[in-house]
Amino acid sequence: MKVTVVGAGNVGATCADVLAQKDVANEVVLLDIKENYAEGKALDIWESSAVNYYDTRVVGSTNDYSKTAGSDVVVITSGIPRRPGMSRDDLIATNAKIVKIVTEQVIEHSPEAIIIIVSNPLDVMTYAAYLTAKKPATKVFGMAGVLDTARFRAFLATELECSPKDIQALLLGGHGDTMVPLPRYTTVAGIPVTELLDEATIDAIVTRTKKGGGEIVNLLGTSGWYAPGAAAAQMVEAILKDSKRIFPVCAMLDGEYGMKNIALGVPVKLGRNGIEEIIELKLNDSEKALMKESAGHVRSVMEALDKMKLF
Ligand code: NAI
Ligand code: 2OP
Repeated sequence: MKVTVVGAGNVGATCADVLAQKDVANEVVLLDIKENYAEGKALDIWESSAVNYYDTRVVGSTNDYSKTAGSDVVVITSGIPRRPGMSRDDLIATNAKIVKIVTEQVIEHSPEAIIIIVSNPLDVMTYAAYLTAKKPATKVFGMAGVLDTARFRAFLATELECSPKDIQALLLGGHGDTMVPLPRYTTVAGIPVTELLDEATIDAIVTRTKKGGGEIVNLLGTSGWYAPGAAAAQMVEAILKDSKRIFPVCAMLDGEYGMKNIALGVPVKLGRNGIEEIIELKLNDSEKALMKESAGHVRSVMEALDKMKLF
């Protein structure tokens, strides 16, 4: 199995490192446009193989896509990240062009690859990659919900003083402040979280989750990478191992949740064929209203993409 990670910056390099340590691929190719950057990061990661005990060959490439040929999965992280005061949506002008160029190259060299988008604004960049790749929506999708639920689970684990491993959570909608964490579908070792915490505490944790990306940007001056890189690697692992894991993933909808022609976070089953099923939850009225609001926000950013006339 071969995986390419485009963008050897903070998120891309972390994703490659976590993937190598999982030892689920024969080869991970890290590619960046910056001269020698991916080669340097790949070499550093590969030099940890004897210590971290894995076989996955990690190689770097400066924009030479021939090295990525025949990849089974490609993760696209190329683009600029948020700085303090910026929203994810402010990145669209720069990142849409990068995602389009990169996706074209990826498809030329790995026509069968499953593509996972990480670049922001995530939902609209997933849509842009889908339009560029001209592949079934089951093979082009985005990573956000695995990260956002990981944050939700981490904050709940802190509050409950329990292991995050025992927390299961779901989340819907766009990757932004309108995301919709779902306490009604969140359990701790099978116990509904609503039985363990009062409404005000859950509300505060939901709000912190929605603003989780911004909290890191304010602390670091740029967005996070350990959790995002690990989240993308977990999706790759589920695909390579055909493990049918159920994750919230940014998927192109075609009637599910009553929506069409939009990329939005929904629970899906991930396996060797990519998205093998989109799971439709029975939402209550308030959850439906929040999902609608989130979709409305994503559509407003899609309009900004349309105005760029790239497609
Ligand atoms: P970074 O600046 O550390 O890395 C980005 C890399 O992309 C740089 O090394 C740059 O040289 C490279 N790049 C730019 N144009 C390229 C091109 N045409 N071809 C190949 N490489 C190119 O940024 P970081 O922190 O790794 O973030 C990457 C993206 O991921 C950002 O858009 C960020 O907002 C997004 N992100 C998304 C998350 C999510 O949950 N979906 C979470 C965290 C970040
Ligand atoms: C994050 O949520 C900024 O999308 C990035 O950390």
